[in-house]
Amino acid sequence: MKGCILAGGLGTRLFPLTKITNKHLLPVYDRPMIYYPIECLVNAGIDDIMIVTGGRKSGDFLSLLGNGKDFGLKHLNYTYQEGEGGIAAALALCEHWAQGSPIAVVLGDNIIEKNIKRQVANFREQKKGGKILLKQVPDPERFGVATLQGDKVVRIVEKPKNPESNMAVIGIYMYDSRVWEIIKTLKPSGRGELEITDVNNWYIQDGSLTAEVLDGWWTDAGTFKSLHQAACLVAQGGANRLD
Ligand code: DAU
Repeated sequence: MKGCILAGGLGTRLFPLTKITNKHLLPVYDRPMIYYPIECLVNAGIDDIMIVTGGRKSGDFLSLLGNGKDFGLKHLNYTYQEGEGGIAAALALCEHWAQGSPIAVVLGDNIIEKNIKRQVANFREQKKGGKILLKQVPDPERFGVATLQGDKVVRIVEKPKNPESNMAVIGIYMYDSRVWEIIKTLKPSGRGELEITDVNNWYIQDGSLTAEVLDGWWTDAGTFKSLHQAACLVAQGGANRLD
């Protein structure tokens, strides 16, 4: 399985912090934000990684990360997203590189306490379809929100005003090679983006989306409040724990 880290976009919710740099190069306690999703994939045994950069100072990713030696990697792949076409648009840039392999996708501003080893192993067994990870949150209206019937997700709504549950869809996704054709069918949403939620809803309709609840804490770091919270959580007990 290959791994894609999406670190494009303009980070406008963090202006002026992102006026002269890319959001994912900002510090989260003792490391740049981009370190966390890389560690997350490496901890799950995924070492063939593409980083989608974008916006300002994208060359700094190369200066910071090089070939990924600090993570025990021999090589890192990079690509560049122009503008802010959405998460699914950023992912589409990885198609030529994935070459039919299943992929794990991690959003560049998502940080977890533990690891996704079990979920990745389960997805390898699943062979077909997609997998999403869920986490109970106090503020579901900020996220994609899953409606469950038993342990099955029956629909996901992106940032609903009146959420049907408090189960957020976190920014870690696994897909089979059909994902590239699915993305090509998407239309821009109300916010003008190709939404990853539409990809996940396609897999729900196909009956091939599985969901698991993540162990340990999860946070994004894309707003002032969540960036601060992420730093506090990392300072308290570290992220990407292997136990
Ligand atoms: O954090 C989880 C949430 O992430 C999910 O619950 C939502 O369903 C999903 O849509 C997403 O919501 P956000 O609105 O918080 O995503 P945001 O626009 O902040 O983008 C998250 C990351 O995705 C960002 O750090 C970099 C990457 N991205 C985003 C956009 C819009 C790109 O690489 N390119 C883009 O054009």
